[in-house]
Amino acid sequence: MPAHDPSRPPPLLLDRARFDTDLTLPAARIPARACQAVVAGLKGHLFDLARQPSVVGDDARHGGGGDEAGTQKTDKPAGPTRLVMLRPAWATDAGSGGTLGAADLLAAAGSAPPPDAATTIAALPPAAAAVLASVGATPATATIRLGYAHHPAASVLRALLPPGVDAPASFETVGHIAHLNLNPDQLEHAALIGAVLLDKNPGLRTVVTKVGEISSTFRALPLRVIAGDPDTVATVTQAGCRFKLDYGTVYWNSRLEAEHARCVGDLEPGSTLLDVMAGVGPFAIPAAKGEKGCTVYANDLNPASYEWLCANIGANRVGHAVAPFCVDGRAFIRAAGGAEALAEGGPPAAIVPAPKPRPPPSGRKGGGDGGGEPPPPPRPPLPASIPAGGLVYGAAIMNLPASAVSFLDAFRGAFSGGAWAATRAGEAGAPALPTVHVYTFAATDELEEMEGAGGGKEGERRRVGGGGGGLLTAPAVAGRVVAALWAGSGNDAPTVPLGLAIRLVRDVAPNKRMVRVTFRVPADVAFWEKGGDGGGGKRARVDV
Ligand SMILES: C[S@@+](CC[C@H](N)C(=O)[O-])C[C@H]1O[C@@H](n2cnc3c(N)ncnc32)[C@H](O)[C@@H]1O
Repeated sequence: MPAHDPSRPPPLLLDRARFDTDLTLPAARIPARACQAVVAGLKGHLFDLARQPSVVGDDARHGGGGDEAGTQKTDKPAGPTRLVMLRPAWATDAGSGGTLGAADLLAAAGSAPPPDAATTIAALPPAAAAVLASVGATPATATIRLGYAHHPAASVLRALLPPGVDAPASFETVGHIAHLNLNPDQLEHAALIGAVLLDKNPGLRTVVTKVGEISSTFRALPLRVIAGDPDTVATVTQAGCRFKLDYGTVYWNSRLEAEHARCVGDLEPGSTLLDVMAGVGPFAIPAAKGEKGCTVYANDLNPASYEWLCANIGANRVGHAVAPFCVDGRAFIRAAGGAEALAEGGPPAAIVPAPKPRPPPSGRKGGGDGGGEPPPPPRPPLPASIPAGGLVYGAAIMNLPASAVSFLDAFRGAFSGGAWAATRAGEAGAPALPTVHVYTFAATDELEEMEGAGGGKEGERRRVGGGGGGLLTAPAVAGRVVAALWAGSGNDAPTVPLGLAIRLVRDVAPNKRMVRVTFRVPADVAFWEKGGDGGGGKRARVDV
């Protein structure tokens, strides 16, 4: 924590007892048997607070301020009775959008005049008043004890934070961690905010806030633990896979869950995938584990990501289908095409835990008597190496939106290895060149929804937002991708790969969107040779 600036008020501490208060409300005394009908008939006119029933017992505590105290002389209905609490006039004035906050209730408990139930009942609309009359209800008051537990986190924080300091509107969760982006004013009260969130969200153990912008190559968030356990190693589940990661040292974004699923969904079942910036494996592991059954070469330059990737490969038992690497993405792409070997010494040895032995089959088929089918032999791990001639792969995923596009020139001339000889020679039945899914950022005004591009009103055509996955028209983005494929080649008139598609991923900021650009590596890019046909300033062939 930074030292507190003595010129400012000291940071607030969480005083839970401050929310303990007695609140006296106008009520109607009704026969116990009529509760259901009265509650239904008085909808919208009851005192409505989370974790507080609108009907309470008619005992000394609840009814102490009622007619027994002589404030409202009425006849009591015969038999067992209950008090149904009515919404007082001050609650309607105080509650924004009908929701009462802790501050409203504390203020009312301290200052609202004793309620006059007869006046409240008289002010009810005729239909509601008739419901009360039909059961012989009489005016009363009810006193309830309110406490910290009655109020949700936002309400508590609104009551406690100084004027001008907003309660945080939302947070993201990563396993047991709540991740906030506190502004400088909120940061002064970080411990208070963190403590309330922990109290109110029993599944959380740790609260962190982002301090500063992501600037490192590895995209890990600069974080500070503001409350709870200083444990940033979280376990999250996505697409039926479990990922363990240290949120303080690697990249993870729960908001990408839908995109991970969409992109994996677009892969060919059983194909080979190159995950160039794999992080801890949210594309790679589901692609291998699920029904896609892909073989995945997964790479991340961050040694911490690599370690967690290896651990997650082991934990999800996909060591036979996912090979982990820790090299620069550019070298990885070139090695996969067979253009260059990976650097001296190759990738670090993968730390993939051996698969756990399976328990013997139980029941009639197996167990004890030596009968039944033996467990299948463990599958050998996929070697974490790339053959010298490269490997045939169907798709590459590059999720480093801030700079992945600038890696695209690594594909140019990269497919020179033996693995791609038949494709290079144009032989029938040779493997198709891979599809690239590269993520990037775009300004909102660079994007148009595909549906609107061919028609519709002009005003509707720029509407880009909402759910991800929608196809976009974005010539500027396509232009940047093509320019990157040919960067430094001298080809000043490259063509856009046929079939290039741009999809919205998510809104990042008011004028910033994350998008996925998908295209097939064009043959003139793949087989480019310095000074050859496809480059050197000559016009590139149009390609698929
Ligand atoms: C935005 S994260 C995406 C991680 C993962 N694919 C996901 O969707 O959660 C980008 C990843 O690229 C890695 N990275 C950064 N520079 C790299 C490079 N030159 N080569 C390979 N990986 C790199 C970072 O360590 C980080 O894990």
